Amino acid sequence: MKLVLSSVALCALFHVITGHAGHNHGPVGKQVKVPTKQLNDGNNIPILGLGTFGFGDIPKIRQAINWAVEAGYRHIDTAALYANEEEIGKGISDVLKKGLVRREDLFITTKLWNDKHAKDQVVPALRDSLAKLGLQYVDLYLIHSPEASKADGSPTNIDYLETWQGMEEAKKLGLAKSIGVSNFNTKQIDRIKAHSKTVPAVNQIEVHPSNTQEQTINDCFERNIAVVAYSPFGFFVTRGGPSKDDPKIKNIAQKYGKSVTQVVLRYSIDRGLIPIPKSTNQKRIKENLDVFDFQLTPEEISTISSYNTDTSIFS
Ligand SMILES: NC(=O)c1ccc[n+]([C@@H]2O[C@H](COP(=O)([O-])OP(=O)(O)OC[C@H]3O[C@@H](n4cnc5c(N)ncnc54)[C@H](OP(=O)(O)O)[C@@H]3O)[C@@H](O)[C@H]2O)c1
Repeated sequence: MKLVLSSVALCALFHVITGHAGHNHGPVGKQVKVPTKQLNDGNNIPILGLGTFGFGDIPKIRQAINWAVEAGYRHIDTAALYANEEEIGKGISDVLKKGLVRREDLFITTKLWNDKHAKDQVVPALRDSLAKLGLQYVDLYLIHSPEASKADGSPTNIDYLETWQGMEEAKKLGLAKSIGVSNFNTKQIDRIKAHSKTVPAVNQIEVHPSNTQEQTINDCFERNIAVVAYSPFGFFVTRGGPSKDDPKIKNIAQKYGKSVTQVVLRYSIDRGLIPIPKSTNQKRIKENLDVFDFQLTPEEISTISSYNTDTSIFS
């Protein structure tokens, strides 16, 4: 017994000294351990993930996955729409082969595109994504949007309640551990709740300081639905929004010795959200994960929320 305890203690000491998280294998540098949150179906989701959208970035994404997992990311967000599932699959295969992680250490999300909303299209669409990703299952499968379309992009009249039945089938078959939605409003979520046995585990929506989404987030939390925040930087990395030099945000960043972008990510986390910042740049991939050694005060969260103009970066 003594021997067992001391080897556990030694192992813990090793993790503290090297910064290795438990369950990680292989020769990697200092890693950040990302906390997890329990979803309403009992599964756990890391509270920060890597976004991967950008058609121009597809050739860079395999390397980005390698850098991200080496840094400590375990949660990766993709979608059939992004046309990068094959490259992401190669990146996942690399890190598994290198022994950096086991499959069960990763949390992989992909999404059903709008042109596959008929009930009998859902499982085949997921199987297609899984084949591209080289996986047996995804951790989270989302309906990308409530809007159904034909293959040419023109709208079609398929009720997302039908699509949700296909999602439930995907979960029943073990092809998706958790199922959820994206870009749904409260009314749409409540229709699903009223007509099905499965409450979405996640709603993935746009949230950032210029689009704070208080009402939808509160509604999701009241219904025990986790909120994944996409485009978490909002206008801080694009033109036309609050500037990185704005004194309010700069003061907060200086106080913690962090960058404005790190403060904006922490803002999501401290609101109980799960941000998925996208980067294919190694330095920024690491920077975006280095947000677990400080916490914003409620006043600082309010200060950042005061940038809100209810503006989507896609409008
Ligand atoms: N469900 C949906 O409908 C939906 C919609 C949009 C997005 N998403 C998901 O959410 C993810 C994130 O959203 P997003 O890609 O729209 O926006 P974002 O993550 O807020 O911003 C990405 C942009 O910020 C840059 N960047 C990253 N880290 C930075 C840093 N530390 N400092 C300065 N610039 C930095 C990136 O460039 P570099 O790569 O050069 O670093 C990229 O140009 C997407 O990739 C996708 O996975 C989902």
